[in-house]
Amino acid sequence: MNIYDSARMAAALETLGYTQTPHREEADVMLLNTCHIREKAADKLYSEIGRLAEIKKTRADEGKQTLLIVAGCVVQAEKNEVLRRAHGVDIAVGPQSYHRLPELVAQFEREQGRVLVADFPADSKFDFLPPHKATSASQFLAIQEGCDHFCSYCVVPYTRGCEYSRSMAEIVTEAKRLVSTGAVEIMLLGQNVNCWHGMGDENLPDPDLGDLIRRLGDIKGLKRIRYTTSYPSKITDNLIQAHRDVEQLMPYIHLPIQSGSDRVLKAMNRLYTVAEYEDIVARFREARPDIAISSDFIVGFPGETDEEFDQTLQTVRRIRYDSSYSFKYSPRPGTPASLMKNQVPEAVKTQRLLLLQKELLSQQKQAYEKQVGRILPVLLTERGRQKGQLNGYTPYLQNAHVVADTTLLGQIVSLKITAASATSLTGEVVR
Ligand code: 5AD
Ligand code: SF4
Repeated sequence: MNIYDSARMAAALETLGYTQTPHREEADVMLLNTCHIREKAADKLYSEIGRLAEIKKTRADEGKQTLLIVAGCVVQAEKNEVLRRAHGVDIAVGPQSYHRLPELVAQFEREQGRVLVADFPADSKFDFLPPHKATSASQFLAIQEGCDHFCSYCVVPYTRGCEYSRSMAEIVTEAKRLVSTGAVEIMLLGQNVNCWHGMGDENLPDPDLGDLIRRLGDIKGLKRIRYTTSYPSKITDNLIQAHRDVEQLMPYIHLPIQSGSDRVLKAMNRLYTVAEYEDIVARFREARPDIAISSDFIVGFPGETDEEFDQTLQTVRRIRYDSSYSFKYSPRPGTPASLMKNQVPEAVKTQRLLLLQKELLSQQKQAYEKQVGRILPVLLTERGRQKGQLNGYTPYLQNAHVVADTTLLGQIVSLKITAASATSLTGEVVR
């Protein structure tokens, strides 16, 4: 979501005549987009601001003005604290107000006063943002934002606000524009993407995500559709069926379980049991047997016992994941879980994370190794680190690289997979 937001902010600043530069020292405007989901992410901000403030000072000595902007969820959560702690920051803007950037820059330049905007405006920012073009073959498209779930550990409902869905017409227009400017794949984004219920049209007055995907499937030139992140108990049969019916919908679902213990799930305020989650996975696999399953995990949630952690390990062994993200529980200010008495010691969290990641990585490695010998369509999205190499993704969102001509960038190419590691595939172009 932050990558998408950053692209939209760049487009907003381009209306003022700014262009992007790969060199920090050249920048007249430096914008940091921030994340508040875990403590580590938020902490990075202040060290990074320190580095940028140095550049700003050097430029000032050369007589050049530099505008330092901080955007995103840290601003939303910490508000004035950002301006108080970081003196070099000129503008701080929350995730719901970044469409106002051109106006805020003008305001700053007019008044030379520091600006903070962290409200939840009644109007959608999407109605005010300038159209933007695709910058590569695979593009994000935010269709839903915010969250009404209030999982007890999570800051998102406080930083991104309540759930909001963009209309189907708006999404189709943006998708068509991205495709006409070079996108081949679109990843639909939302904190609860499968809760999307945007306004439809006369043919489909009350569409859900499955219907939206079917509609996007009609866009000529759009070859791949993905969506993330889904909330397990809100998965509909229509969405599962779309994986069977819509050719462009990729066989991949990111479905965070968080824990394999029903008691912990309840304390997290997750509205499903492990058995219900496993049933949803089974239904996806029935509709699309090769579907890749991915998940998020939190270890060391307050009160999690050794037995409950072990249930997570057992659940992982039963389900078998193709890929995953796992984190130590991080207490976030203002969330109910941060006030729970029985916080788990850091050393225990570290130990549990190691054990879980060992299992998850071994499953991921097997999922990669399984592909050796197969021919897979890979969307080549960027140049690789090594000379002559291009990188891309299989339908299962596995990384793949190949030595191939750069004219193949942005295309879906058949690769014969010749080798695999735990994090990437190597292939040869099949002619
Ligand atoms: N501590 C650790 N992980 C968290 N996540 C969200 N909040 C926290 C937290 N307080 C994880 C969840 C979520 C992912 C985006 O980040 O696993 O699915
Ligand atoms: Fe956070 Fe996701 Fe829970 Fe919403 S559903 S509160 S975004 S973890």
